[in-house]
Parts: sequence; structure tokens; C-alpha cells
Amino acid sequence: MKQTPMLQQYLELKALNRDALLLYRLGDFYELFFEDAEQAAPVLGIVLTRRRHNDEEESPMCGIPHHAMTSYVGKLLEAGFKVAVAEQLEDPSAARGIVRRGVIRVLTPGTVTEPELLGDGERRWIVSLLPVGTHIAAAYLEAASGEFGGTVCGGAAEVRELLAQLQPREVLLPEPDGAAADGWSSELAQAVATRRPAQWFEPQRGEELLRRCLSVASVRAFELEPGEPLLGAAGALLEYVRSTQGELPRHVADFRRRMRRGEMVLDAATVRNLEIVRDSSGDRRGSLARVLDATVTAMGSRLLRDWLLRPLTDAVAAAARHDAVAALVDDPASLATLREALRGAGDLERSASRLGLSQARPGELRALRHALAAVPAVKAGLAASPSELLASLGRGADELADLRDDLESVLADEPPAIVGPGMIRAGVDSDLDEARALAHGAKEAIAEIEARERARTGIPTLRVRYNRVFGYGFEVSRAYLERVPAEYVRRQTLAGGERFVTPELEQLERRIAGAEARADERERALFGELLGRCAGRAARLASTARALATADVLAAFAERARRRRYVRPRLVSGSRLGLTASRHPVIEELASAAFVPNEVSLDAERRQVVILTGPNMGGKSTYLRQVALAAIMAWAGSYVAAEDAEVGVIDRVFTRVGAADDIARGESTFMVEMTEVANILRHATGSSLVVLDEVGRGTATFDGLSLAWAVVEALHDRAAEHGRPLVLFATHYHELTDLAQRLERVVNASLAVKEWQGSVIFLHRVVEGPADRSYGIHVARLAGVPEAVCRRAEEVLRQVEREEARVVESARPADGPQQLALFPPLEESVARRLRELELDRLTPLDALNLLASLKRDLA
Ligand SMILES: Nc1ncnc2c1ncn2[C@@H]1O[C@H](COP(=O)(O)OP(=O)(O)O)[C@@H](O)[C@H]1O
Ligand SMILES: [Mg+2]
Repeated sequence: MKQTPMLQQYLELKALNRDALLLYRLGDFYELFFEDAEQAAPVLGIVLTRRRHNDEEESPMCGIPHHAMTSYVGKLLEAGFKVAVAEQLEDPSAARGIVRRGVIRVLTPGTVTEPELLGDGERRWIVSLLPVGTHIAAAYLEAASGEFGGTVCGGAAEVRELLAQLQPREVLLPEPDGAAADGWSSELAQAVATRRPAQWFEPQRGEELLRRCLSVASVRAFELEPGEPLLGAAGALLEYVRSTQGELPRHVADFRRRMRRGEMVLDAATVRNLEIVRDSSGDRRGSLARVLDATVTAMGSRLLRDWLLRPLTDAVAAAARHDAVAALVDDPASLATLREALRGAGDLERSASRLGLSQARPGELRALRHALAAVPAVKAGLAASPSELLASLGRGADELADLRDDLESVLADEPPAIVGPGMIRAGVDSDLDEARALAHGAKEAIAEIEARERARTGIPTLRVRYNRVFGYGFEVSRAYLERVPAEYVRRQTLAGGERFVTPELEQLERRIAGAEARADERERALFGELLGRCAGRAARLASTARALATADVLAAFAERARRRRYVRPRLVSGSRLGLTASRHPVIEELASAAFVPNEVSLDAERRQVVILTGPNMGGKSTYLRQVALAAIMAWAGSYVAAEDAEVGVIDRVFTRVGAADDIARGESTFMVEMTEVANILRHATGSSLVVLDEVGRGTATFDGLSLAWAVVEALHDRAAEHGRPLVLFATHYHELTDLAQRLERVVNASLAVKEWQGSVIFLHRVVEGPADRSYGIHVARLAGVPEAVCRRAEEVLRQVEREEARVVESARPADGPQQLALFPPLEESVARRLRELELDRLTPLDALNLLASLKRDLA
């Protein structure tokens, strides 16, 4: 196939960037061709056209205007695509033959740092996974903050858990070596998985990259062993950043090896059910994070969410946070001053990443300069704190005076947002000043010429105008055309007149263009040098940002604790949870009605399992969640919404919501529910908190009840040495309340209601003991179900209850839960008749008659 030079160049660039969409710069557009165009056009909502490359070759094509590139690229990244940007590397007017082009940047969902592509709050992790035997080394990086760490997962379940926690935008994997596909990697969405050569994942190579990037002599500084696979996974991430951004990140200053002991595990379902970062409608508004978020910086807001998603398990570290909050709660004046000072600090964290990758634009540097001015006041405020944690954050914050001086002395007061004229301050560089003066002088000369020519020709409307295509020219309106001097050269006809040039004007124009080009070149060079110096300070900026973000979160906790009368939790050893006058922090805040506080008492010895019954809408789900949230808040370092709180060690919080309550998610749900229950039974430990809300609801009543029953037993009956998790189980299966009599550490609690003039009033108060009956019908009545229907339902209920009582009594000769009769006697008798049947002797007619009679019995 004969290829045009352009097509050939395109195909060469594309070959180097196979898994990205190639944006090929052509004049004012970026064009996409072939499959790239077909994939992108629907995502971008733009028209697909065709381009003829030569006689034989034609391709689908679509284009986006270069000035709107960001918003288009944003959409492509959101859809999971990677985007390679091929720019013209030389001035098209100066090029001989085809313009040289090269890919200057690859944008990928997991590595972007451009502020306008990031959105304000979401973390953007990229995870790299390297399977070795049955283990999987997992490293993760957030390019925008420089957070970098890793762990070794013991198996697929742990990988899934990690992925659920981080929700990475991209997962980096070695190219398959022919081995059978493993479960977890085939589960990854196509768009998210990025394959790179296996050499990228070699531990040796990773070790070198890490040493270089983190500037340490030995990776042992980060609890890494030379040669271990985690180094390979971590190194591949750095390599990937280098390949997409053109250099190694300089703001990445630390590698944190994650010890599973150090963090409370909240899996994806728990995070969702407890509405920690998003409420049930997917909105941030009704989430715990939003209600607690009194931070004043974006980086603080992100960190707060991290803390809630990954609470501590180390009591010393958590108590240090509580001490810090206490110090601020006790001293409202310092709290206010600190928050005020932090407010100016903006998003230093993101600035650090932009510096570290040498991608900061003039506008961002200007914002950084402004933000840095806030650091000394914050530092001073922290240093004076009686809290050791706050004081150490103060010591850790670096004023970065050198960076600030540099920005102040080199960067202009009002630089343009992006690279362009006016970035560098006057007086910084004599070459630049001179070139600018020349350009400026020539412009003034032009202004003078305008005045002179107006006087000389007597054309009052004569004007010197600049035009991108034709340069400077005299514009003369039609009425005065006859006064135009003979030496003027006509260039262009305009709507209302004509345009002329003179040799003098052309010469000045050349001078301006020359001077501006020189100034531009000089400015770019100086800006590049400035960026280079900034990059060297990125790591210090990143750690300062982290210190300020931490202070911001602690101050936010203090602010909320004061305003909402939260209490400092006492962290105790052992498996227990006691709350006095506990509230649900979100509902208390957002609901209009007053919130009714409740008590909680759970402990592994006597009150291990609480079965919570009560009418629909009574407040069961709310109670369950508020207990779990209190535990999470306490271990995240916050105060909790109660008057007194005693919180034991918690390694994991499990929550499961019965499928019927989870219907909005539309998954097929009973299977999901049971998978999750299985997971709890396997993984809950003596330090876990298990919250089950209407589990078993997603299937037929008897199945569901039986399963719920068995699950409670299993959690209760665990051998003490395997640990007994604390369990809260809300259920509408009234039968479960029997368990309290049968099992030692099971207690009943219920939501009190009051009947008043034939209707039900929910008191939202949790009392000891089971609920006495189902209030479903009353609720139906309240909801407006017609009176006749409600009355009929009451009749049926009485009937059913009578029968059930009979069954339960008759089926309880011996004790032991296996004796519970789940089937009424009629069904039992049908079953017996079937069991006793001798099929061999049955004629077809007998069979038919028997069937009919069985059916009659059951009807
Ligand atoms: N302690 C409380 N104080 C005030 N309102 C409450 C309380 N607990 C629950 N509610 C409100 O009652 C309603 C039903 O609560 P929910 O927990 O869903 O009940 P259930 O799970 O028992 O059906 C919700 O609108 C909730 O805001
Ligand atoms: Mg409920």
C-alpha cells in the first residue's frame, strides 16, 4: 500500500501508542483516525466523517478543536480511555516537507494531574499487581498527591478487597506469559487494565527506580527487602508514570508499606451501606464524610475521607488524634485562628504533584505562591499547641521560603494562566527586558505613526490595526479613500473600507515580531528554569502539604465536636462497645425532626449478639448504622455523636443489608447477599463488628428465616479462642427472638412504639426485650391502605398467629435449635405420606388420585 507521508507518520506514532487513542494535531484540530475515531466519536458526541488519505486508503475520522481539548479529553478519560497527544514539534510554516510530530504526553485515567481533569475530591489511584505464586504484590500510587505504597496480598480475595477499597482508575499488569488467567484479573474491566512488558516488573529494576525516585541509599528505609516482588510492582508504576509524563515523579517522597494490622478494614459493601462517602442515592450530600467535613482546604477534605475509609486500629495513634482534637476543642480561639490560617493554604498537595512532574503552569504557580504565604501562620499556630501531634505537624511543615522567594522574584504578579507572554517579571533578565522594550518601542512608534499619518493625510478615521493574517495595516473607511496617498500599498478590502501598508509599517512589524519572538523564547527558557528549581522542592512541598492537610482534618473534627456536642471516645482493650445517648450523626443533622438518642451495650462475654426487632420504620436500620459509625469515627480520630462512648478494638466492620432493602442497586441479590454472608462467616474475628440488617429477606420466608437463624448461631457458637465478633442483627423474623432463650450471649432489643387512638407512634427508642408483635398492618393503615383491607389483614393475622403458636408448641419436644418447626403440620403430613409411598406399586391412575388428594389437603 502506498502511503502518504502524513499517513505514514500517523501510523508510526500510533504503533508506539497502541492502547491509547491518538490525537493527531493538524492545524487547529486534533484528529482521530481509524478505530480511534470510531471509538471516540460516540463518547464525545461528535460526528464521524471520512478522510481520504490516497487513492486506496480512506479512514473514519473525527476531530476536536485544540482549544477545547481538555473537556474532550476529560470525557475520554472518564470513559476509561488513554489518550496520546501528538503535537507538531516544529513551526509548520518553517517546516520543509511534512511537519515533525511527536507524542508529548499520554494522559491516562490513573495518572492525570491536570487540575481541570481531576475534579475536586475524588482520589485517583493506579494499582500495579504482580502475581508471584499464590501471592500478589500490589503497589498503588496517586499521582495527584504523590501517595505511594503497597502490600503483598495473600490471595485473590485480598486483591479484590484492596481494589474495592481504592477503586483504582487503572490497574497495571504484566503482559500475560501464557499462564491460565487468574480470577481477579479477568474480572477487571477492559478499560481499567493496562498491560506492560514483564521486564517493567522486575524487582531489580524497581529497586533502582525507587532508590532514585525516593532518593535513598537502600529500599530498606521503606520496609522493603531488595529482590522482593513488591519492588517490581512499585517500580512498574514509576516506569508507567515516566512513560506517560516524560519524567519520574519528584513529589513522591515516601513508600508506605501497608501492614494489615494498622488499619481497620471496611469493604466496599460496608462503605456503601454505611453511606460513608456517598449516600444511598449516590450523592455526597447525605454521607458521613460530608456531615463531618468542616475542613477548609481541598486536600484536607480528601484526607478526611481517607481517614473515614481507613480508620486506625492502633490505639496510641488514634489517641494522639483525640488528644489533638481535645486541645483544639478546649481552646476555641486557637481553633478559629488555625482554621483561618489554613484557609489560605488551598491545595498545596496538588501543587506539589504538578511541580514534581514539572507540569505546573504559570497560573498554578501563582496560586501556589499565594498559598505558600499561609504556611508560616499555620506553622506558628501548630507549634504552640499542647498536643504533641499538632506540635509535630508544626515542626514538619516547611515554610519553603526559598521556593516562595523564587516565585516572588521571578514570576510576574499577574502571569497568564498558561505558558505565554508575560510570565516572567520585569527586571529578572536583561535580555528579556531588552526584547520587550524593543517590541514595546516599536508599538509606540506605530501609535505615533498613526497620529502623524492622520494629520498628514487629513483622514480622521485612519487607524492602525493588527490582524493575525495580514499583520499591521492602515484601515481607511470608504468615504476617505480618495485621500489615500499614492505610496500606500493596498492589501485587503474590508466591509467598510480598505487596508493598506507602507514599507515603514512593515519594517516596524518585522521588528516587533522579531523582538516578541526573542522575548518569548527567553521567557520560556526562564520559566523552564524556574520549573526545574521548583521540581527539586516538590518533595518538601508534598510533606508540608500532608502536614497541613492533617491539621485541617483534626481542626475539622474539633469544629464538629464543639458544634454538635460530640464526646471524646475512650478506647479500651477487649471486644466491647458502649454508647450513652448515641445519635446518628447524619440523620441528626439532616432530618428535621428531633433525633431520639439511644443506648448501646455490646460485649463479647455477655451481650455478644443483639437481635433487634420492631416495626418497619421503627428505627432499626438507623440504630445499627449509628453504632457502626460511632466505632468508625472513634478509630478515625474523631469524637463521636454520644454523651459517653467506650469503644474496644475493632479490626473490621462488616455490614450486610438484606436484599429487599438493597433493591435500588438492582443486582440479583439474594446470591450477592449470601456470598457476603459467607464472607463474614469466614473472616469475622473476635475484634470484628458485624451489622446485619434484615439478612435473609431476599428469599422465601422459610429459607430466609432458617438462614438467618443459622448465621446467628454460627457467629454465637464460635469457640472463644477463634474470637467472637460483636453482632447487631435487625430482623423482621420475629421467630429469631427465641434465640435469646436458647443461646447464652444473645439478647433481644426492640424499638418501642406506642399505640394511640388505633394508630402507631414510633418512639425511636431502643428498649431491652423483643418487640411483642408485628406492626405492619398499622403501618399500612398509616400509609393509607383502605380500611377494609387493613381489617381483613388483621383477621388473617390472628388466624396465622394462632396456627403458628400451635406449631411452635407441638414442634418443641426437645430443646436445641434444630427442633424449631419451620413447617406447619399439614405440610409435614404431606411430606410423610410422600415419604411412605411405595412407588413401584402405584398405577398411573393411583398417582393421579394421590396427587389430587395431597393438593386438596394443602389447599
Ligand atoms: N432515633 C431516632 N430519632 C428520630 N428519628 C429516627 C430515629 N431512628 C430512626 N428515625 C427515623 O425513622 C425512620 C425509619 O427509620 P429506619 O431506621 O429506616 O427504620 P427500620 O429500619 O426499623 O424500618 C427514618 O426516617 C429515620 O430517619
Ligand atoms: Mg430498616
